[in-house]
Amino acid sequence: MKKSRSGCSSPSCSRKTATLLLVTLIVLMVSCSSALYMPTAGQQTESASLEQMLEGRKLYVKKCGSCHALILPEKHTKPEWERYLNEMQQKASIDNTEKEQILKYLTRGN
Ligand code: HEC
Repeated sequence: MKKSRSGCSSPSCSRKTATLLLVTLIVLMVSCSSALYMPTAGQQTESASLEQMLEGRKLYVKKCGSCHALILPEKHTKPEWERYLNEMQQKASIDNTEKEQILKYLTRGN
């Protein structure tokens, strides 16, 4: 009798494989997004409230991650981020308020 070569032909086995893939995907997604710091109340500054920084983070993830990988906030200085945001504003179709909020998040309110 010929043996099946694929080790995973039963329905329960492929279900297990699918579950394993899904779990791996979720773990990857969670570990990627957690690299971006989450603003806390203690990080508020005179020029940036917690709400503004949280909104900025949300906008950054939503508006800036569709074309390229998100760059970590600490990778650039404030003048660099200002320049990049001006360059990217049209591509991301964000208004000036949204741009300011993203900048506050990226520069940790400084
Ligand atoms: C429609 C696609 C698109 C969107 C949306 C977009 N970008 Fe970009 N971004 C690009 C492309 C294309 C480049 C590289 C070419 C260039 O510099 O114009 C780039 C380059 C960059 C760079 C330079 C990377 C480097 O190492 O030189 C930064 C920083 C950046 N984007 C930040 C942002 C931010 C912040 C946002 C959100 C406000 C954003 N991008 C939204 C397409 C996009």
